[in-house]
Amino acid sequence: MKKQILSGIQPSGILTLGNYLGALRNFVKIQEDDNYECKFFIADLHSITVPQEPEQLRKNIKSILIQYLACGLDPEKNTIFMQSHVHEHAELGWILNNCTYMGELSRMTQYKDKSKKQDNIRVGLFDYPVLMAADILLYDADYVPVGEDQRQHLEIARDIAKRFNSIYKDDVFKLPKPLITENTARIMSLQEPTKKMSKSDDNKDASIFLLDSRDEIMRKVKRAVTDSENCVKYSDDKPGIKNLMNIYSAVTDKSYTEIEEEFKDSGYGQFKTAVATAVADTLEPIQEKYNKLNSPEYEDYLKSICEKGAKHAHEIAKNKLKEVYDTVGFIA
Ligand code: TRP
Repeated sequence: MKKQILSGIQPSGILTLGNYLGALRNFVKIQEDDNYECKFFIADLHSITVPQEPEQLRKNIKSILIQYLACGLDPEKNTIFMQSHVHEHAELGWILNNCTYMGELSRMTQYKDKSKKQDNIRVGLFDYPVLMAADILLYDADYVPVGEDQRQHLEIARDIAKRFNSIYKDDVFKLPKPLITENTARIMSLQEPTKKMSKSDDNKDASIFLLDSRDEIMRKVKRAVTDSENCVKYSDDKPGIKNLMNIYSAVTDKSYTEIEEEFKDSGYGQFKTAVATAVADTLEPIQEKYNKLNSPEYEDYLKSICEKGAKHAHEIAKNKLKEVYDTVGFIA
Protein backbone atom coordinates (compact mmCIF):
# COMPACT_ATOMS: atom_id res chain seq x y z
CA MET A 1 0.00 0.00 0.00
CA LYS A 2 1.34 3.38 -0.99
CA LYS A 3 1.44 6.13 1.61
CA GLN A 4 -1.02 8.92 0.92
CA ILE A 5 0.31 12.46 0.66
CA LEU A 6 -1.86 15.54 0.52
CA SER A 7 -1.17 19.23 0.57
CA GLY A 8 -2.67 22.47 -0.61
CA ILE A 9 -1.73 26.10 -1.14
CA GLN A 10 -4.01 29.10 -0.98
CA PRO A 11 -4.41 31.09 -4.17
CA SER A 12 -3.41 34.46 -2.83
CA GLY A 13 -1.16 35.67 -5.63
CA ILE A 14 2.32 34.84 -6.79
CA LEU A 15 4.14 32.39 -4.53
CA THR A 16 7.29 33.46 -2.76
CA LEU A 17 10.68 31.86 -2.78
CA GLY A 18 9.76 30.68 0.72
CA ASN A 19 6.70 28.84 -0.59
CA TYR A 20 8.82 27.28 -3.31
CA LEU A 21 11.72 26.15 -1.13
CA GLY A 22 9.57 25.24 1.87
CA ALA A 23 6.72 23.54 0.06
CA LEU A 24 6.54 23.20 -3.72
CA ARG A 25 10.06 22.00 -4.32
CA ASN A 26 9.37 19.33 -1.76
CA PHE A 27 6.15 18.29 -3.48
CA VAL A 28 8.14 17.78 -6.67
CA LYS A 29 10.65 15.53 -4.88
CA ILE A 30 7.90 13.46 -3.26
CA GLN A 31 6.04 12.89 -6.53
CA GLU A 32 9.11 11.04 -7.84
CA ASP A 33 8.98 8.54 -4.96
CA ASP A 34 7.02 5.41 -5.84
CA ASN A 35 6.16 4.79 -2.20
CA TYR A 36 3.82 7.76 -2.24
CA GLU A 37 0.58 8.67 -3.91
CA CYS A 38 0.16 12.43 -3.96
CA LYS A 39 -2.70 14.86 -4.15
CA PHE A 40 -2.08 18.58 -4.41
CA PHE A 41 -4.95 20.99 -4.41
CA ILE A 42 -5.61 24.69 -4.64
CA ALA A 43 -7.23 25.82 -1.39
CA ASP A 44 -9.70 28.25 -2.96
CA LEU A 45 -12.35 27.75 -0.26
CA HIS A 46 -9.78 28.78 2.34
CA SER A 47 -8.89 31.96 0.52
CA ILE A 48 -12.24 33.69 1.10
CA THR A 49 -11.67 33.71 4.86
CA VAL A 50 -10.13 37.11 4.14
CA PRO A 51 -11.56 39.64 1.65
CA GLN A 52 -11.04 38.79 -2.03
CA GLU A 53 -12.06 40.60 -5.18
CA PRO A 54 -13.81 37.95 -7.36
CA GLU A 55 -12.07 38.69 -10.67
CA GLN A 56 -8.69 38.86 -8.98
CA LEU A 57 -9.39 35.62 -7.12
CA ARG A 58 -10.24 33.87 -10.40
CA LYS A 59 -6.91 35.04 -11.82
CA ASN A 60 -5.03 33.97 -8.71
CA ILE A 61 -6.52 30.48 -8.77
CA LYS A 62 -5.50 29.96 -12.37
CA SER A 63 -2.09 31.41 -11.64
CA ILE A 64 -1.48 28.99 -8.75
CA LEU A 65 -2.33 26.09 -11.01
CA ILE A 66 0.23 27.34 -13.54
CA GLN A 67 2.77 27.93 -10.78
CA TYR A 68 2.26 24.34 -9.58
CA LEU A 69 2.99 23.06 -13.07
CA ALA A 70 5.84 25.49 -13.72
CA CYS A 71 7.55 24.34 -10.52
CA GLY A 72 7.43 20.79 -11.80
CA LEU A 73 4.30 19.20 -10.41
CA ASP A 74 3.37 16.54 -12.91
CA PRO A 75 -0.36 15.93 -13.50
CA GLU A 76 0.45 12.45 -14.78
CA LYS A 77 2.04 11.50 -11.45
CA ASN A 78 -0.25 13.35 -9.03
CA THR A 79 -3.82 14.35 -8.60
CA ILE A 80 -4.05 18.11 -8.98
CA PHE A 81 -7.40 19.74 -8.28
CA MET A 82 -9.30 22.72 -6.97
CA GLN A 83 -10.86 22.38 -3.54
CA SER A 84 -14.15 23.99 -4.62
CA HIS A 85 -14.57 21.35 -7.34
CA VAL A 86 -14.97 18.67 -4.69
CA HIS A 87 -17.96 19.67 -2.56
CA GLU A 88 -17.22 17.05 0.11
CA HIS A 89 -14.54 19.31 1.62
CA ALA A 90 -17.13 21.80 2.82
CA GLU A 91 -19.56 19.07 3.86
CA LEU A 92 -17.05 17.18 5.95
CA GLY A 93 -15.98 20.52 7.40
CA TRP A 94 -19.50 20.94 8.75
CA ILE A 95 -19.48 17.53 10.40
CA LEU A 96 -16.08 18.20 11.95
CA ASN A 97 -17.29 21.56 13.29
CA ASN A 98 -19.26 19.46 15.68
CA CYS A 99 -16.19 17.67 17.00
CA THR A 100 -14.19 20.84 17.52
CA TYR A 101 -14.17 23.19 20.48
CA MET A 102 -14.20 26.99 20.39
CA GLY A 103 -11.37 27.00 22.92
CA GLU A 104 -8.94 25.04 20.79
CA LEU A 105 -9.66 27.16 17.70
CA SER A 106 -9.09 30.38 19.64
CA ARG A 107 -5.60 29.16 20.53
CA MET A 108 -4.46 28.90 16.90
CA THR A 109 -1.60 31.36 16.41
CA GLN A 110 -2.40 31.97 12.75
CA TYR A 111 -5.93 32.97 13.71
CA LYS A 112 -4.63 35.27 16.43
CA ASP A 113 -2.17 36.92 14.03
CA LYS A 114 -4.59 37.30 11.14
CA SER A 115 -7.50 38.49 13.25
CA LYS A 116 -5.35 41.24 14.74
CA LYS A 117 -5.09 42.79 11.26
CA GLN A 118 -8.87 43.01 10.72
CA ASP A 119 -11.91 44.64 12.26
CA ASN A 120 -14.73 42.35 11.27
CA ILE A 121 -13.34 38.90 11.76
CA ARG A 122 -15.08 36.28 9.70
CA VAL A 123 -16.36 33.08 11.28
CA GLY A 124 -14.63 31.36 8.36
CA LEU A 125 -11.24 32.64 9.49
CA PHE A 126 -11.87 31.22 12.93
CA ASP A 127 -13.13 27.96 11.48
CA TYR A 128 -10.37 27.62 8.89
CA PRO A 129 -8.45 24.84 10.71
CA VAL A 130 -11.58 22.66 10.69
CA LEU A 131 -11.90 22.96 6.91
CA MET A 132 -8.22 22.14 6.68
CA ALA A 133 -8.78 19.05 8.83
CA ALA A 134 -11.58 18.04 6.46
CA ASP A 135 -9.26 18.45 3.45
CA ILE A 136 -6.80 16.07 5.02
CA LEU A 137 -9.11 13.52 6.62
CA LEU A 138 -11.24 13.07 3.50
CA TYR A 139 -8.34 11.37 1.73
CA ASP A 140 -6.85 9.32 4.58
CA ALA A 141 -3.62 11.24 4.23
CA ASP A 142 -0.63 9.69 5.99
CA TYR A 143 1.63 12.69 5.52
CA VAL A 144 0.99 16.35 4.89
CA PRO A 145 3.97 18.32 3.60
CA VAL A 146 3.61 21.84 4.97
CA GLY A 147 5.69 24.72 6.24
CA GLU A 148 6.53 25.05 9.91
CA ASP A 149 3.72 27.62 10.32
CA GLN A 150 1.12 24.92 9.62
CA ARG A 151 2.30 22.50 12.29
CA GLN A 152 -0.36 23.65 14.75
CA HIS A 153 -3.10 23.13 12.15
CA LEU A 154 -1.88 19.59 11.61
CA GLU A 155 -2.02 18.95 15.33
CA ILE A 156 -5.60 20.11 15.56
CA ALA A 157 -6.47 17.95 12.54
CA ARG A 158 -5.13 14.96 14.46
CA ASP A 159 -7.03 15.96 17.58
CA ILE A 160 -10.26 16.31 15.64
CA ALA A 161 -9.73 12.93 13.96
CA LYS A 162 -8.99 11.25 17.28
CA ARG A 163 -12.04 12.81 18.89
CA PHE A 164 -14.34 11.75 16.05
CA ASN A 165 -12.97 8.21 16.17
CA SER A 166 -13.43 8.00 19.91
CA ILE A 167 -16.95 9.44 19.90
CA TYR A 168 -18.21 7.32 17.03
CA LYS A 169 -16.06 4.51 15.76
CA ASP A 170 -12.38 3.65 15.73
CA ASP A 171 -10.52 3.91 12.46
CA VAL A 172 -12.92 6.11 10.54
CA PHE A 173 -10.15 8.67 10.18
CA LYS A 174 -6.47 8.03 9.76
CA LEU A 175 -4.27 10.29 11.92
CA PRO A 176 -2.15 12.46 9.59
CA LYS A 177 1.44 13.48 10.27
CA PRO A 178 3.14 16.67 9.12
CA LEU A 179 6.12 16.39 6.80
CA ILE A 180 8.32 19.38 7.44
CA THR A 181 11.70 19.86 5.79
CA GLU A 182 14.39 21.19 8.06
CA ASN A 183 16.18 24.44 7.18
CA THR A 184 14.20 25.33 4.08
CA ALA A 185 10.97 25.19 6.06
CA ARG A 186 11.54 28.71 7.26
CA ILE A 187 12.68 31.28 4.75
CA MET A 188 12.35 34.62 6.49
CA SER A 189 11.45 38.14 5.39
CA LEU A 190 14.35 40.03 3.80
CA GLN A 191 13.34 43.15 5.69
CA GLU A 192 12.51 41.63 9.08
CA PRO A 193 14.45 38.37 9.18
CA THR A 194 12.82 37.20 12.40
CA LYS A 195 9.46 37.05 10.60
CA LYS A 196 8.43 34.51 7.96
CA MET A 197 8.65 35.50 4.28
CA SER A 198 5.03 35.94 3.31
CA LYS A 199 3.02 36.40 0.12
CA SER A 200 0.92 39.00 1.87
CA ASP A 201 3.66 41.17 3.40
CA ASP A 202 2.85 44.85 2.85
CA ASN A 203 6.48 45.60 2.18
CA LYS A 204 7.14 44.13 -1.27
CA ASP A 205 10.89 44.25 -0.67
CA ALA A 206 10.46 41.70 2.09
CA SER A 207 9.70 38.79 -0.22
CA ILE A 208 11.12 37.36 -3.41
CA PHE A 209 8.35 36.19 -5.71
CA LEU A 210 8.55 33.29 -8.14
CA LEU A 211 8.08 35.63 -11.10
CA ASP A 212 10.45 38.43 -10.01
CA SER A 213 12.95 39.45 -12.68
CA ARG A 214 16.67 39.02 -12.18
CA ASP A 215 16.99 42.77 -11.56
CA GLU A 216 14.25 42.77 -8.95
CA ILE A 217 15.81 39.82 -7.17
CA MET A 218 19.21 41.55 -7.17
CA ARG A 219 17.68 44.76 -5.84
CA LYS A 220 15.75 43.01 -3.05
CA VAL A 221 18.68 40.89 -1.91
CA LYS A 222 21.01 43.90 -1.98
CA ARG A 223 18.54 45.73 0.28
CA ALA A 224 18.08 42.79 2.64
CA VAL A 225 18.57 43.72 6.27
CA THR A 226 21.78 42.27 7.74
CA ASP A 227 24.15 43.44 10.46
CA SER A 228 27.31 45.53 10.55
CA GLU A 229 29.80 42.73 11.15
CA ASN A 230 30.43 42.12 7.42
CA CYS A 231 31.35 38.50 8.13
CA VAL A 232 29.44 35.62 6.50
CA LYS A 233 28.91 33.33 9.47
CA TYR A 234 25.95 31.16 10.44
CA SER A 235 24.63 32.33 13.79
CA ASP A 236 21.31 32.87 15.51
CA ASP A 237 22.58 36.32 16.49
CA LYS A 238 22.71 37.25 12.81
CA PRO A 239 19.17 36.52 11.57
CA GLY A 240 19.60 38.43 8.28
CA ILE A 241 22.80 36.63 7.24
CA LYS A 242 21.46 33.34 8.56
CA ASN A 243 18.41 33.76 6.32
CA LEU A 244 20.51 34.58 3.24
CA MET A 245 22.73 31.59 3.99
CA ASN A 246 19.64 29.40 4.30
CA ILE A 247 18.43 30.63 0.93
CA TYR A 248 21.84 30.19 -0.70
CA SER A 249 22.21 26.75 0.80
CA ALA A 250 18.75 25.72 -0.38
CA VAL A 251 19.35 26.78 -3.99
CA THR A 252 22.97 25.60 -4.32
CA ASP A 253 22.94 22.56 -1.99
CA LYS A 254 26.07 23.89 -0.28
CA SER A 255 26.47 23.40 3.48
CA TYR A 256 26.85 26.34 5.86
CA THR A 257 30.52 25.48 6.36
CA GLU A 258 31.10 25.46 2.61
CA ILE A 259 29.38 28.83 2.33
CA GLU A 260 31.42 30.34 5.18
CA GLU A 261 34.56 29.07 3.47
CA GLU A 262 33.49 30.42 0.05
CA PHE A 263 32.93 33.93 1.42
CA LYS A 264 35.58 34.09 4.13
CA ASP A 265 37.47 36.84 2.31
CA SER A 266 34.48 38.76 0.97
CA GLY A 267 32.02 41.17 2.52
CA TYR A 268 28.25 41.18 2.38
CA GLY A 269 28.19 42.90 -1.02
CA GLN A 270 29.79 39.99 -2.85
CA PHE A 271 27.84 37.45 -0.84
CA LYS A 272 24.56 39.15 -1.68
CA THR A 273 25.41 39.20 -5.39
CA ALA A 274 26.07 35.47 -5.26
CA VAL A 275 22.81 34.80 -3.41
CA ALA A 276 20.75 36.87 -5.86
CA THR A 277 22.40 35.24 -8.88
CA ALA A 278 21.82 31.73 -7.55
CA VAL A 279 18.19 32.52 -6.78
CA ALA A 280 17.62 34.04 -10.22
CA ASP A 281 19.22 31.00 -11.88
CA THR A 282 16.89 28.72 -9.92
CA LEU A 283 13.78 30.68 -10.82
CA GLU A 284 14.58 31.24 -14.50
CA PRO A 285 13.40 27.86 -15.85
CA ILE A 286 10.27 28.10 -13.69
CA GLN A 287 9.48 31.51 -15.14
CA GLU A 288 9.99 30.27 -18.70
CA LYS A 289 7.58 27.42 -18.14
CA TYR A 290 5.10 29.74 -16.44
CA ASN A 291 5.07 32.13 -19.38
CA LYS A 292 4.61 29.29 -21.82
CA LEU A 293 1.64 27.78 -19.94
CA ASN A 294 0.07 31.17 -19.29
CA SER A 295 -1.01 31.59 -22.90
CA PRO A 296 -4.39 30.98 -24.58
CA GLU A 297 -3.26 27.83 -26.38
CA TYR A 298 -2.83 26.08 -23.03
CA GLU A 299 -6.31 26.98 -21.67
CA ASP A 300 -7.82 23.63 -22.59
CA TYR A 301 -4.85 21.73 -21.25
CA LEU A 302 -5.16 23.46 -17.87
CA LYS A 303 -8.86 22.79 -17.77
CA SER A 304 -8.38 19.12 -18.55
CA ILE A 305 -5.90 18.74 -15.68
CA CYS A 306 -8.41 20.17 -13.19
CA GLU A 307 -11.25 18.08 -14.55
CA LYS A 308 -9.30 14.88 -14.34
CA GLY A 309 -7.99 15.77 -10.86
CA ALA A 310 -11.42 16.68 -9.49
CA LYS A 311 -12.96 13.52 -10.89
CA HIS A 312 -10.41 11.32 -9.18
CA ALA A 313 -10.49 13.25 -5.90
CA HIS A 314 -14.27 13.20 -5.89
CA GLU A 315 -14.41 9.41 -6.20
CA ILE A 316 -12.41 9.07 -3.00
CA ALA A 317 -14.03 11.95 -1.13
CA LYS A 318 -17.52 10.69 -1.96
CA ASN A 319 -16.90 7.32 -0.36
CA LYS A 320 -15.31 8.80 2.72
CA LEU A 321 -18.17 11.23 3.27
CA LYS A 322 -20.67 8.39 2.84
CA GLU A 323 -18.87 6.46 5.56
CA VAL A 324 -18.90 9.52 7.83
CA TYR A 325 -22.59 10.28 7.25
CA ASP A 326 -23.44 6.70 8.00
CA THR A 327 -21.27 6.74 11.13
CA VAL A 328 -22.93 9.84 12.59
CA GLY A 329 -26.41 8.40 12.01
CA PHE A 330 -27.76 10.03 8.85
CA ILE A 331 -30.11 7.90 6.73
CA ALA A 332 -28.76 7.06 3.27
N1 TRP B 1 -3.51 26.25 5.48
C1 TRP B 1 -2.57 25.99 4.43
C2 TRP B 1 -1.72 27.24 4.20
O1 TRP B 1 -2.19 28.34 4.37
C3 TRP B 1 -3.25 25.63 3.14
C4 TRP B 1 -4.06 24.41 3.30
C5 TRP B 1 -5.41 24.31 3.33
C6 TRP B 1 -3.57 23.08 3.46
N2 TRP B 1 -5.81 23.03 3.47
C7 TRP B 1 -4.69 22.25 3.57
C8 TRP B 1 -2.28 22.54 3.51
C9 TRP B 1 -4.56 20.87 3.74
C10 TRP B 1 -2.15 21.17 3.70
C11 TRP B 1 -3.29 20.34 3.80
O2 TRP B 1 -0.57 27.11 3.82
